[in-house]
Amino acid sequence: PVEKRIEDLLSRMTIEEKVLQLNQYTLGRNDNANNMADPVNDIPGGVGSLIYFSSNPELRNRVQKKAMEQTRLGIPILFGYDVIHGYRTIYPISLGQACSWNPGLVEKACAVAAQESRMSGVDWTFSPMIDVARDGRWGRVAEGYGEDPYTNAVFAVASVKGYQGNDMSGTNKVAACLKHYIGYGASEAGRDYVYTEISRQSLWDTYMLPYEEGVKAGAATLMSSFNDISGVPGSANHYTLTEILKNRWKHDGFVVSDWGSIEQLRPQGVAADKKEAALKAFSAGVEMDMMNRCYDNHLADLIKEGKLTKEQLNDAVRRVLRVKFRLGLFERPYTPASSEKARFYLPESLKIAEQLAEESIVLLKNKDKALPLSKVSKLAVIGPMAKSQWHLLGSWAAQGKAEDITTIYDALQAEYKGKAEVSYSLGCDFDGKDKSGFEEAKALASKSDVILLCLGEKKNWSGENASRSTIALPGIQEELVMELKKLGKPVILILSNGRPLQLNRLEPLSDAILTMWQPGTPGGKPLAGIISGRVNPSGKLSMTFPYSTGQIPVYYNHRQSARPHQGKYQDIPSTPLYEFTHGLSYTTFQYGEIKVSSPKLKRSDKLSIEIPVTNTGDRDGSETVHWFISDPVSSISRPVKELKYFEKKLIKKGTTVNYRFEVNLERDLGFVDGDGKRFLEPGEYYVIVKDKKVKIEIED
Ligand code: IFM
Repeated sequence: PVEKRIEDLLSRMTIEEKVLQLNQYTLGRNDNANNMADPVNDIPGGVGSLIYFSSNPELRNRVQKKAMEQTRLGIPILFGYDVIHGYRTIYPISLGQACSWNPGLVEKACAVAAQESRMSGVDWTFSPMIDVARDGRWGRVAEGYGEDPYTNAVFAVASVKGYQGNDMSGTNKVAACLKHYIGYGASEAGRDYVYTEISRQSLWDTYMLPYEEGVKAGAATLMSSFNDISGVPGSANHYTLTEILKNRWKHDGFVVSDWGSIEQLRPQGVAADKKEAALKAFSAGVEMDMMNRCYDNHLADLIKEGKLTKEQLNDAVRRVLRVKFRLGLFERPYTPASSEKARFYLPESLKIAEQLAEESIVLLKNKDKALPLSKVSKLAVIGPMAKSQWHLLGSWAAQGKAEDITTIYDALQAEYKGKAEVSYSLGCDFDGKDKSGFEEAKALASKSDVILLCLGEKKNWSGENASRSTIALPGIQEELVMELKKLGKPVILILSNGRPLQLNRLEPLSDAILTMWQPGTPGGKPLAGIISGRVNPSGKLSMTFPYSTGQIPVYYNHRQSARPHQGKYQDIPSTPLYEFTHGLSYTTFQYGEIKVSSPKLKRSDKLSIEIPVTNTGDRDGSETVHWFISDPVSSISRPVKELKYFEKKLIKKGTTVNYRFEVNLERDLGFVDGDGKRFLEPGEYYVIVKDKKVKIEIED
C-alpha cells in the first residue's frame, strides 16, 4: 500500500513540488545565510526536509502544520539532526564506544538516543558515521569506530538497529544515515574536506564493508561525502552512489548530500557553476540537497532542458517519500507534547550511558599494579581536565548539557568519601605558556600519596574541521607531568581525548595511563569506579596509538612489506606505542591453544574454531577475544592480518570460558577484487588470537 500511495502522490505533484521535496534547509539556527529568518513564514511548506537545530517540538509542529494544512498535497516535512553520540543523554564518542567491543550496548544507547530525539521532534539522525580512519590528526576520527573495516561494520549494524528498530514508525525510533559515503576517512594528511587517493582495490578492501553491512541492516539513508575519490567527488560519484548502492545493493531509501557538498563540486574542479554541480550530483545519485540551494534553483530547468528526465526526478522523490511513509509521518506528522522529565535522563538511559562509558575506558599501562588505588589516604587531583564538564561532552554533543556532567574531581570525591582525602590543583591550562600554577600543584602533590594527572584535549580539538598537526598533548601539559614526576610519587595519567594521542614522552613518566575518551553525560563517575577498583576495566583500543605523529598512518591491518624487518625509522621505533585492541585489566587472562574443527577443508566445508581463556587473577573480569585471519600468499597481497570476529565475555576468577568463532569460509577467508567480487583462493591461512596462531588449508 505504501508504494501505491507514493505513486498516487507522484501522479498529482507538479515538477516544482517534486523538486522542493529534494531540498533541505535549516530550522532553529540563524547563523547561516541560507537559513530562514522567520521559520514559519519563510520556510516553504512543501520543502522536503529541515535540519532541526532546536529542542522545541512546538516550533517543529508549527512549521509542520504549514506543510500539512497550507500546501496542496499535505506532505509532511522530515526533520533531521546530528544525533551522533546521544541527544540529551550523551554517550562516549563513537571511537570510545567501539573500545567497549559491546555492540549490544551500543545498540541500546542508540535506541535511547532515538527515543529522546523522536520525542523532541527529530525524525532522522545523521548517524552513524562509519568512515574507517587511520590518521589521528583528522578531527573526525572521534565520530567513527576506528581503523578497522569489520569493527565499523559491526557497530554500523548495531546503531542502525538501535535507531530504527524493526519498524521506524514508532514514536521512539528515527531513520539512520550512514555517512560519509565514501572514503572521507582517507583525507590526506588528516586535513578536513580535502582529496583522498583511493584505488578501487582499497575502496573495497577498506571502506565499503561498513556501508554494505549498514545497508543490509536496513539504513534508511546515506550521506554523500565531501572528499573526492581519486578525482571523482563522493557527491558526484555514479559508481558508488548508483552502480553499487542502488543497482547492486538495491538500497531503496535516499542519499542526502553533506552540507554544501554539491556546490563544492565547483571548488573541487568538476563543475563550472551551481547548475552543473546540481546536474552532476543528481545524475550520480544524490537525491537530497543539504544547504546548497542547487536543486531548488536548477533541477526544474535541467529537466526542461532535457538534461535530466522526469523519470529520474520521480525516482528521487519516490525514495524521499518512501522514508517519510516508513517513519509514519503521514499518519503522525506532529510531535506530541511531553515534559523534559518524560523524555530525558530516564534511569535506564543513564545506566546505559554509565555502563558504556565504563566499558570504553582503556587502561593502557599499569606498572606494578599502580592501579587500582584501594589503600591510599591522600589523592592529589591535578590538571585542566579535572574540573571540566564542557570538554567531557565531546564534539557533536547535540542537546547535551555540560552542567549535568559530573567532573572527574567530584566523582573521585564521591568515590572516596569517608575513605581518603581528595584535593585539587589546576596546574596549568590545556595549552599556552602559563606555568604559574605549577608551584601550587607541586605543593599539593608533595603532601599526597599519589598524583592523578587529568589531562587531554578540549572539546573543539576534534570533530569537523578540527585537525591537529601533532597528536601530542600541548607542551605545557607535558611539562607539568615532567615537573610532578620529579617528586618521586606515583603518577597516574588520566586522559580525556577525541583521538589517539602521542604519549611517547609521557609513557616513561607514568605508572599508569588510562584514556576515558570523551565520556559524555556520566563524566568522571565511571572513571572513578575504575580508579578505586570498584570496576574492572575491560576496554581495548579501536584505533592504534602511534609512538609519534611521524608514524602516521600506522594501523594494524597494513599490507605486507617487501622487507618486513627493514624499512625502519632511524630515529624512532617502527612499531606503535599501543596497538589496535591493546587494553589491560586488573585481572590476568591466560589464553589456551586454538582448536579448529578441521585443519584441511574444501571450499564448501564449515569451520568452527575455539579457544579457552582462563581468568588466572584474583577478580572477575570481562575479556574480548579478537579473531584475526591472515592469508600469507595470494594473488594480490593481503593485509598482515584482518579482524573477522570478536566476542566479549565475563570470566569469573579462577574459571575458564570457551570462545567460539563459526567461520564462513568465503566471507572470512576470501577477499574482494577492485569491483567488490569475492574470491576464495585455495592455500594456507592462519587464524590468529593474540600470540596464538594456527594453520588451516583450503584444498583446490
Ligand atoms: O551531518 C553533518 C556532517 O557530518 C558534516 N557536515 C554537516 C552535516 C549536518 O550538520
